[in-house]
Amino acid sequence: MVSLDFDPGLCRNESEVEGKFIISYLLPALGFSPHTWYQQVALGKSRLDFFIFTAKYNPFMSDRKCFQFSFVIEAKHPKENLNRHISQLKNYLTVLNVRYGILTNGKELRIYENTEGKAINIFECKCPETPKHISQIKSLINISELIKVSRKPARAVPKLRHKNFSRKGRISMNKKIAVYHNKGGVGKTTVVTNLAAALSRKGKKILVIDLDSQANTTFATGLIKFSEEKGDDIKDNNILKIMRRVSSAHIQEVIKKSQFNTPEVDIIPSHIQLLEKEYELVMERNAELLFSDNLKFIEDQYDVILIDTPPSLNLYARTALVVADYLIIPSDLKPFANQGLPNVKKFIESTNETRRHIGKEPVNVLGILPSKVPNYSKFVIHTLPGRMERVKAEYGIDIMDTCIFQREILAQCTDNHERTDTDIIPNPKSVFDFKPNSPSAKEFESLADEIMKKCGLGE
Ligand SMILES: Nc1ncnc2c1ncn2[C@@H]1O[C@H](COP(=O)(O)OP(=O)(O)OP(=O)(O)O)[C@@H](O)[C@H]1O
Ligand SMILES: [Mg+2]
Repeated sequence: MVSLDFDPGLCRNESEVEGKFIISYLLPALGFSPHTWYQQVALGKSRLDFFIFTAKYNPFMSDRKCFQFSFVIEAKHPKENLNRHISQLKNYLTVLNVRYGILTNGKELRIYENTEGKAINIFECKCPETPKHISQIKSLINISELIKVSRKPARAVPKLRHKNFSRKGRISMNKKIAVYHNKGGVGKTTVVTNLAAALSRKGKKILVIDLDSQANTTFATGLIKFSEEKGDDIKDNNILKIMRRVSSAHIQEVIKKSQFNTPEVDIIPSHIQLLEKEYELVMERNAELLFSDNLKFIEDQYDVILIDTPPSLNLYARTALVVADYLIIPSDLKPFANQGLPNVKKFIESTNETRRHIGKEPVNVLGILPSKVPNYSKFVIHTLPGRMERVKAEYGIDIMDTCIFQREILAQCTDNHERTDTDIIPNPKSVFDFKPNSPSAKEFESLADEIMKKCGLGE
């Protein structure tokens, strides 16, 4: 990592911000050598402080389609308020059709993304903290792709690939697992919470993300204590906060520790506000990508990230399927759930299309997880195998090996509560903390083993 051994905020003027911070530190730290960038560039009416381009696509020899391989940096005097310069940067980005722009006055560094004519602030940090965020900045503006393109033969659209690094610094397997079916009540939330518990008991560090406005996972993991509404900050610190802008501070603020299971599991909670805010987020257009970029700040702290979804085809379900590496589809295998499978398949195809645009492989479908299926022996022996075969043949989706049967205990552990003289306080538990030797606990343990094997998560 290139270090920053001075405070760029002490630069005396704009030239020093350019010379000491951008040229001496920022561009080398981002991996750009001097032949890849140009200073004080006039393009039409735009006067850019820095125009960074790959050597392959020299802007002065290429047509404007290649501007997608570039970004601009605007430097300002340390006393300048950056807010006053956003419209100028936006103008450069839209006129030149450049996707990213950096704005800095030596004190603050901000990144804006040109999305359909709007300059969206996708990242900001204090300049002295830039070294800490340099790899994040690189991945946000696809630096590795810019550099790769400069060394390789041209190809139409640069492909984005993100490696996952484990907490120990090794390259690890992908590990974000979404649990989705557009049919309600098939056991998605029950699977997410108890699978999280099972994996954490196997020594895995787990983050659960609740992307459903019903907030059932948030409730089932014990984060909602109705008697303590005043002390509850979920209203202000929930998943919405990380769908609007990229900020390492924000994602740290929304992660909560949950005690519904031993060992504890981290949760990003949901809130009913998701419902009313969905339209605004859809209009802002890049909530999925901002959310995905925010996850990059913290994902190497976890072995598995489990995402619960709403029974819907909405923005939040879409976000989960765009972000996830793997998908589990819980289903009770009853006709209503089966009739929803063509919708699930179409939705996967549509979210895979979005993934293709951002250079991600299609989501890896682990299969349909039989969940909430009756456990009486006649059904299990004579009916269930035929149902599984038919669903697999008709819808072309594999059936997972584990089966989560319908058992009262799974509803009871979520409904667990404590009574005081004046109140009833929810105290939901994982099935492992509630009844560790129950058949349901064993089923979730098998599911965790299956997931670890299929996702290459090791012992
Ligand atoms: N295997 C099971 N055995 C018995 N009850 C179950 C089982 N799985 C889930 N339930 C119960 O069924 C209800 C719906 O389950 P859950 O909330 O997990 O479904 P969901 O798919 O997440 O629903 P939604 O689509 O509304 O989010 C809950 O009351 C839950 O306790
Ligand atoms: Mg649910």
